[in-house]
Amino acid sequence: MFKPVMWVRKDTQNDNMFWPSDEFKKKAWVKDESLYTEATKDPAAFWAKLAREGLEWFKEWDETYQWKPPYYKWFLNAKLNVSFNALDRHIKTWRRNKAAIIWVPEPPNEKERVLTYFDLYREVNRFASVLKSLGVKKGDRVGIYLPMIPEVQIAMLACTRIGAIHSVVFSAFSGKSLQERMVDAEAKVLVTSDGYYRRGKQINLKVEADKGVEGTSIEKVVVVKRVGLNVNMVEGRDYWWHELLENADNYCEPEPRDSEDPIFILYTSGTTGKPKGVEHHTGGYAVQAYWTTKWDFDLHDEDVFWCTADIGWITGHTYGCYGPLLVGATMLEYEGAPNHPQQDRWWSIVETYGVTVFYTAPTAIRMFMQWGENWPSKHNLDSIRILGTVGEPINEEAWLWYFNKIGGGRCPVIDTWWQTETGGTLINSLPGIGPFIPTVAGRSFPGTSHDILDETGKPVPPGEGGYLVQTSPFAPGMLRNIWKNPERYKEYFRVYGEEYYYTSDGARRWDEFGNIRLTGRVDDVMKVAGHRLSTAELENAITSHEAVVECAVVASPHDIKGEVPIAFVTLKKETEPSDQLKKELIKHVDATIGPTARPDRIIFSNELPKTRSGKIMRRILKSLVRNQPVGDTTTLMNPESVQQLKEEVGFKG
Ligand code: WT7
Repeated sequence: MFKPVMWVRKDTQNDNMFWPSDEFKKKAWVKDESLYTEATKDPAAFWAKLAREGLEWFKEWDETYQWKPPYYKWFLNAKLNVSFNALDRHIKTWRRNKAAIIWVPEPPNEKERVLTYFDLYREVNRFASVLKSLGVKKGDRVGIYLPMIPEVQIAMLACTRIGAIHSVVFSAFSGKSLQERMVDAEAKVLVTSDGYYRRGKQINLKVEADKGVEGTSIEKVVVVKRVGLNVNMVEGRDYWWHELLENADNYCEPEPRDSEDPIFILYTSGTTGKPKGVEHHTGGYAVQAYWTTKWDFDLHDEDVFWCTADIGWITGHTYGCYGPLLVGATMLEYEGAPNHPQQDRWWSIVETYGVTVFYTAPTAIRMFMQWGENWPSKHNLDSIRILGTVGEPINEEAWLWYFNKIGGGRCPVIDTWWQTETGGTLINSLPGIGPFIPTVAGRSFPGTSHDILDETGKPVPPGEGGYLVQTSPFAPGMLRNIWKNPERYKEYFRVYGEEYYYTSDGARRWDEFGNIRLTGRVDDVMKVAGHRLSTAELENAITSHEAVVECAVVASPHDIKGEVPIAFVTLKKETEPSDQLKKELIKHVDATIGPTARPDRIIFSNELPKTRSGKIMRRILKSLVRNQPVGDTTTLMNPESVQQLKEEVGFKG
């Protein structure tokens, strides 16, 4: 079993620095610096080598990388199909009968479902044939609004197979959120289910799906029967998945896609109220998904990889679908809640299926910390050899708890920094190299480079903080556009100019070896339990309620969720503030965005602090919820509003 050598580099500020043991290195795909050195010398050539080695191309590229700021392209004029690479390639080898997906349903008495690579190949081919028969053509958009069931990967790969562009929407988002995204994507078909299980309850998803379809260009809806709910099926529009599959062809030719054809759109929050459709392209995305999966998690054929993220997020796309399947790994997929029927469900799954590589979010780790170490210690977790984390900065306490209580002090913790926009991980230590330092993600993935700049655009020295940027050649999996909105795409290249992709994250240069500590978003985007949410989006939702005149949302630090939204709300004159109304506003948020966006607190206020030009001073609200000095209020139009708010908030600062 792997034992880390605890070796402290004296020149750093941190005693908790871990390195892989020789034994661990022996097996690791990447174990020495040579790879970093080679990549730095000629990043494009390095990626070309990886592209050739990792994937099968129908036609090779004429040019590896082209940069016409702010646009870049990878593997120009090359042709490939991602579903072919994730399936057809493997079924020609011994992996044909290897488990691709081990699916664990939430009801504890329901049996798991194992799909071998051949099973998955067959189902994807059949569903791809179905999509075609429904009139879906290359380039058409298909909405996917499904829970964590294998049909979600089947649907995604089927789209990829015929060259349709999928847009997956998180199943806990409301029908209204779905609708907004489907309108923007101009989707033709929606794939959904009757429902799913969550904490023992049957959730009806079709009701939300129906709301989401209204007023969109969606012509057909395919419904997976997961729970057996009695749902409303619209004649001529809605079809049962299993009925359509009855007569489906078992083979569907994979469509050759240009490397720069879009593979999917995934909506995410920006600083405005309207979510943006992050557009990823086929070749570059697949190459980055393949190599980051293989190297970050040191995946070998005997591994069982479990990424706990929902498929509705980019982590689910890249590490709960494309990455593991492209490398031919076995991955685990779990339908339900971590605490059903009890708080040890995850650890019971790890033990039962012998999970070896486990990837989750800091918010989940902190939740388990709070539930207590008795839950994981009831289970034998010796199968785990690598731990991963993603989604927000991880605090040292949570890192060490994860390392000790889940990893038994044996397993490297890979803290991967990336974004929906980057398609795959970008900054983290590699398991066979290290170092593993709590709160320090690590270095740029080989073949990519980042810098940390100060306000004036000057790189900061080690030990200093600034803003994280990426420089050319931009990673192959990076976004290529914002769907139908190039202006919003260009914003990423506006802050420091076209040479720099601006991440909106604060960062600190940890040492002279390129290790980086991430310090959180610097824009109006919150990370609530790892989920990305814009203050503007939530403000829009709340102000759309008839009782509300005005609203300002700020993020407040939270022990488990990292951050939570606090909403300051001004009501219409005739409306009486009440707890009942607070409940109603929460319900309204649930219906408009989804429960993930629920404000932790709603504070009613007659007036919000404003500048003379009428702008709400969110800085003051932030200080209030953090119990920090509010600073100068003399420039306010209504300084007396602050006193009232202090009382409402219970300000102690
Ligand atoms: C934002 C992107 C990338 C998949 C899930 C989130 C924060 C992400 C880390 C990390 C510190 C992190 C950043 C980033 N973030 N990973 N390891 N350490 N911060 O994707 O929803 O697009 O959010 O998540 O602030 O900008 P996303």
